[in-house]
Amino acid sequence: MEQNYIDILQQVKERVQLKVAVKLSPYFSNLAHFAKRLDHAGADGLVLFNRFYQPDIDLEQLEVTPNIVLSKSYDMRLPLRWIALLKGKIKADLAATSGIHTGWDVIKMMMVGANVTMLNSILLKKGISEIRNIEKTMVKWMEEHEYESVKQMQGSMSAQNVPHPTRFERAQYIKALSKFEL
Ligand SMILES: Cc1cc2nc3c(=O)[nH]c(=O)nc-3n(C[C@H](O)[C@H](O)[C@H](O)COP(=O)(O)O)c2cc1C
Repeated sequence: MEQNYIDILQQVKERVQLKVAVKLSPYFSNLAHFAKRLDHAGADGLVLFNRFYQPDIDLEQLEVTPNIVLSKSYDMRLPLRWIALLKGKIKADLAATSGIHTGWDVIKMMMVGANVTMLNSILLKKGISEIRNIEKTMVKWMEEHEYESVKQMQGSMSAQNVPHPTRFERAQYIKALSKFEL
């Protein structure tokens, strides 16, 4: 499967002058390794992550129901973690997509290292004019926290730049569970 992606990327790169970004699913067995392979194969950007179509079952009609489920803000935690881990480790730019619904969500993604964020569900829900609200939230937050540019934020909280990088790693989950309370 990985080799298939690499072959397609290389063939596209041979034929076009444009920058090429590869949109990935989160379901690779070693995503960090695969991201490096794509980087070496010439990907100019990685888009993390595609959300797959997830069918449900209607228990009354006993049918598979192909309804589209829009994302929740919580869904952004998966790309947030992976962008934090990959930032600075590969040359390709990083685009964040999944669950980005507010200006604060965009800021968090920039902080961990996203070059851009991509929105879909929130615009389907609220309309294209929501982009204006997202921008206003960002500008207000940046002014209150004395940031002068998006560039200044980008990657400032990636795994390489935070005092406790292990908080992005798997072992931290066990610690979080041991402290879990309802
Ligand atoms: C109705 C719909 C159609 C989509 N079509 C595509 C597509 O053609 N290609 C693609 O890469 N992603 C497609 N996506 C995925 C989105 O581009 C995006 O990655 C995903 O919805 C996560 O972002 P969100 O949480 O803002 O919705 C689609 C999503 C939805 C809801």
